[in-house]
Amino acid sequence: MFKDVIVRSSGRYFPERVFTNKEYEAILDTSDEWIVERTGIKERRLAAPGETVSDMALKASLQCLERAGLEPDDVELIIVGTVTPDTIFPATANWLQGKLGNTRAWSFDLNAGCSGYVYSLNTAYNMLRNGQHRYALVVGAEKMTALSDMTNRDHCVLFGDGAACLLLEAVDPAENPQGWGIKDFYLQSDGSLGNILMQTAGGSSHPSTYRTVRNHQHFVEMQGQPVFKNAVRRMYQAVIQVLEQVNVPPEEIDWFVGHQANARIISATQRRLGVPEEKVYMNVQRYGNTTAATIPCCLDELATEGKLVAGHKVVLFTFGTGFTWGSTYLVWGETK
Ligand code: UT7
Repeated sequence: MFKDVIVRSSGRYFPERVFTNKEYEAILDTSDEWIVERTGIKERRLAAPGETVSDMALKASLQCLERAGLEPDDVELIIVGTVTPDTIFPATANWLQGKLGNTRAWSFDLNAGCSGYVYSLNTAYNMLRNGQHRYALVVGAEKMTALSDMTNRDHCVLFGDGAACLLLEAVDPAENPQGWGIKDFYLQSDGSLGNILMQTAGGSSHPSTYRTVRNHQHFVEMQGQPVFKNAVRRMYQAVIQVLEQVNVPPEEIDWFVGHQANARIISATQRRLGVPEEKVYMNVQRYGNTTAATIPCCLDELATEGKLVAGHKVVLFTFGTGFTWGSTYLVWGETK
C-alpha cells in the first residue's frame, strides 16, 4: 500500500553578504534601473570566501531538522539539487551527509538546473511513497556566483547564492485524515535545446585547460530571450497539466510558487494563468536566481512568516537548463 508523503519542516540559509545592483554599476556597464526593469532583481547574496555549497546546505538542513525535532541520523535519504557542486565527485549530498554526521542515509545530487528542486522533490516523493524510507531531506543549494563571469553583464547580474530544504515524512494514509502531502507532479525535458543555457567547459567533453579558462568557458552561457519565452510557455503548461491530473481548479490554489529567475517571467506566467497576483509568491528581488534553491527558499519564507499553513493548496512550477520543466501539487502539512 502506498504511503502519504508530507512536508514536515523547512529550513533556509542565505549568506549575509548582500550584493546590490549599485555595486554592479561600479564594475560593469549596467544600471540599477536596467536590472530592476528587466528582471525585478534589486540585490542578491554572495557566499563568503571559502564557503561551499555543502556548508550552506548544512546550515539550512540543521535548521530544518531542529524544527522537526529530529536528529541527523533519522534521515534515510538525502538529495541535493545543484548545478554548482562542491566537487564534480563525490556529490555535494555526500559532503553534506558527512558534515551532518549522518550514518544511515544514501545520498546523491540531482542535476536539472533550475528544475533541480522540483525534480529532487518528486524523486524523494516516489522513494518515500512506496514505503522504502520514512524521512528524506531534500535540499536545493547553489553557489551561482562561482559560475558567474563578473565581467559579463548578460548573466552575472541575474544570479545569487543560497540553500533551502524540506523534510519529507512517509505516513500511512490512515494517520493522515487531513489529506496533507504531495499529491502529484508533472516533469518534462527537451534535450535538443541544451546549448541555449549551459556551462561549456569543466566536464569530460571540454576538460579544463588554460584555453577554456582564458575563453571564459567555465561560466554560464545563455541566450536570454529563448529561455525567457520557453520558460513562460512551459511553466504555464506545467501548472495547467498538474491541476488537470489532480482535478483541482486554479481558483482553489492558495499559493503558486514558481522558480525565481526573473519577475517578468513569473508575472507573465501569472497573467497567462489568470490567477490573482497576490497568490503568486515572489522574492527574486532580494535573492536573484539561486537556481535549485529558489523554490524551497520561497516555501520556507512563506511558512516561517505564517502565510503558508497546514491545509493550504500549493502548486510549484519551474523551468531551467536542459531544457527541463515541471510542476508539483501538494497540500502543506503541519510544519514546525
Ligand atoms: O531559469 C533559467 C535561468 N535564466 C533565465 O531565466 C533568464 C531568462 N532571460 C531573461 O531573464 C532575459 O532575457 C534577460 C534578463 C537575460 C535579458 O533581458 P531582455 O529583456 O531579454 O534583454 P536583451 O537580452 O534583449 O537585451 C536588451 C539590451 C541589449 O542591448 P542592445 O543590443 O539592445 O543595445 C543588451 O546588450 O540590454 C543589454 N543588456 C544590458 N544592459 C544593461 C543586457 N544585459 C544588460 C545589463 N545591463 N545587465
